[in-house]
Amino acid sequence: MTIEVNKLEGDFSKGKLIPEDMKTGALFQVDVNPQGKKTYDWIQKNNVIINNILSHHGALLIRGLPIGGSRQFGTLLQQIFGMELLPYIYRSTPRTELKGHVFTATEYHSDLLIPQHNENSYSNNWPTRIGFLCVVDSDTGGATPIANSRNVYLDIPLPIREKFESKGVMYVRNYSDIDLPWDVVFGTKDRSEVEHFCLNNNINCEWSKDGSLRTTQVNPSFIVHPESKERIWFNQAHLFHISSLDKQVTEDLLKVVGTDRLPRNAYYGDGSEIEPEALELIRKSYEKHTIRFSWRRNDLLLLDNMRFSHGRESYIGDRKVLTGMAGPSSFISNRIF
Ligand SMILES: [Fe+2]
Repeated sequence: MTIEVNKLEGDFSKGKLIPEDMKTGALFQVDVNPQGKKTYDWIQKNNVIINNILSHHGALLIRGLPIGGSRQFGTLLQQIFGMELLPYIYRSTPRTELKGHVFTATEYHSDLLIPQHNENSYSNNWPTRIGFLCVVDSDTGGATPIANSRNVYLDIPLPIREKFESKGVMYVRNYSDIDLPWDVVFGTKDRSEVEHFCLNNNINCEWSKDGSLRTTQVNPSFIVHPESKERIWFNQAHLFHISSLDKQVTEDLLKVVGTDRLPRNAYYGDGSEIEPEALELIRKSYEKHTIRFSWRRNDLLLLDNMRFSHGRESYIGDRKVLTGMAGPSSFISNRIF
């Protein structure tokens, strides 16, 4: 479904699609002038239209709304989503938790990019909504590009899609200081709590004699969106697979730990190797559908985490982007909204 811009009212009537020629799967940007209204009041007045855009379209950038830091950001997200924010359990990346389940965006080398991904799509549980706030925009780069996951799905050649759909994706993780240690990922130092979490989430876990942990998990490669009923590319095979790393880093890692102990890797669900050419075509599809905008301070980006993936460009200078997630959904419970 597309946004009929001429039917929108108030601040939203001057909104624009990015890119402008893309009618489906574009980012909708609205430049806001609250004219002395408090931010909470502005959100309250416009919350129906905000949620309509999110429900029917999936990506909204609100620019110009004064937001006074992480605490207010968390409260605003709860006000918009109408749900409590979620903790970040079984995490894939390092983040710092601020107050009230607001996190810093992934703390990852500024000179490297983070590929497109739907948050937690390697897992049984994921948030249906995700929000980002730009607190400090970097001097150069540092954008959070997004991509419509349905368009990505449709552009992946059918034989590749079919193979992924029939086999699923196996995610293999070995936890250590090279990537993330298991107590950080699972938020506990208690092994039995980790085992309990894994049991409840269809994750196979094995402890080694040296105390290290290895997990394997098989999940589908796609989901059907609960509202649009469209098929959506929803996995992180291209990100977990060893081929996502720099060539030199890969060589060094293989020398130090070997294939079996790589911090993370992805296979087809039956354990067979994913062809590098297939992953390249998947990455190309993401690239083709990537929508980019430059962050400005106080930019509020709201996404349907199923309909849109996000990533991060490399950057120079300081950059501070906060994030919060809401609306748990899962393959197990099918709790969708
Ligand atoms: Fe992310």
